[in-house]
Amino acid sequence: MNYINPSPIKAAITAVGAYVPEDKLTNSELEKMVETNDEWIVARTGIKERRILKDPSKGTSFMAIKAAQDLINKRNLDPTEIDAVIVATITPDMNVAATAAYVASEIKASNAFAFDLQAACSGFLYGMSNASSMIASGRYHKVLLIGADKMSSIVDYTDRTTCIIFGDGAGAVLFESNNSGYGWEDEYLRSDGSGRMFLNIKAGGSLFPTSSETVEGGMHNLYQDGKTVFKYAVSEMTSAVEKIIYRNEINPDTVAYLVPHQANKRIIDAIARRISLPSEKVMSNIEYLGNTTAATLPLLLKDYESKLSPGDRLIFAAFGGGFTWGAAYLTWAY
Ligand code: UT7
Repeated sequence: MNYINPSPIKAAITAVGAYVPEDKLTNSELEKMVETNDEWIVARTGIKERRILKDPSKGTSFMAIKAAQDLINKRNLDPTEIDAVIVATITPDMNVAATAAYVASEIKASNAFAFDLQAACSGFLYGMSNASSMIASGRYHKVLLIGADKMSSIVDYTDRTTCIIFGDGAGAVLFESNNSGYGWEDEYLRSDGSGRMFLNIKAGGSLFPTSSETVEGGMHNLYQDGKTVFKYAVSEMTSAVEKIIYRNEINPDTVAYLVPHQANKRIIDAIARRISLPSEKVMSNIEYLGNTTAATLPLLLKDYESKLSPGDRLIFAAFGGGFTWGAAYLTWAY
């Protein structure tokens, strides 16, 4: 079933903001922490360094607020005009008390309601679906969507197979209605709960409440069966992208950019190969930011914003814990 927009209102991204912490964690530093080496990490993932929010007193909200303020300043936006704030994250400041509510208050979005969205690495993709639908409904005019994760707060820095991938960061976009004719075109989103055994944080929820056993057993850290996740990520992201391209009758030559979740350069390359897209048409920041989970897509938009023009066709793709995945088609509006 295609995404059909019965509304005459088209939702578009009209501004982008971002924040990454200053501190870098390089491959050579990781070599001192676990048994690994720069050659292996670069060859197997494409990552050279990531950013880490070192200050233990600061949570994900710190980066989300910075990204939102960057957008607000650039756009000269009055924050009281924002109707809703969505924060896609798997590392909220606290399990209860939405990080989005705190972010909205701190940026003075006093007329907004706010909530967190948890879909792991697909969080921002799902969030774009939510935000664009809210705009297309006609009930809301400005929705601020933020993808933010302090992955360093859940990564086990003794586990060499996961700690080499992740980094911290935040990105934000504003969804608004617009009459350029450009904006949200189509989406294909899916999930499969049988995947939760391969990528998770087991404890701290209702199934395994926090106890001395869960802490001692390392059950509050991120666990990933990398090989299995890799296999699913390649096949599901590729088929989602192909579905979007096929049903919108898009000639891949007319795609301006593929905007893929940044988990592993080999996954990204495999998708691009399948749709015959040259590397210069594939957005990438994995080399210097690693996998920032819910923040990868908006951080890509921030880095490529100056290269984009109205009407540019962008194909988004993501895959993450849950499992969750999908692809979307958006035409750039400015
Ligand atoms: O973002 C959300 C979704 N996440 C993903 O999409 C991530 C998907 N998975 C991956 O990106 C990759 O599976 C990893 C980067 C996590 C791991 O790469 P891999 O090529 O799948 O490695 P592997 O786990 O199959 O391990 C291959 C070998 C093993 O050694 P043996 O058994 O062949 O002797 C590992 O012990 O590489 C070894 N290895 C390492 N060696 C050096 C694993 N991690 C490291 C390391 N440094 N950091």
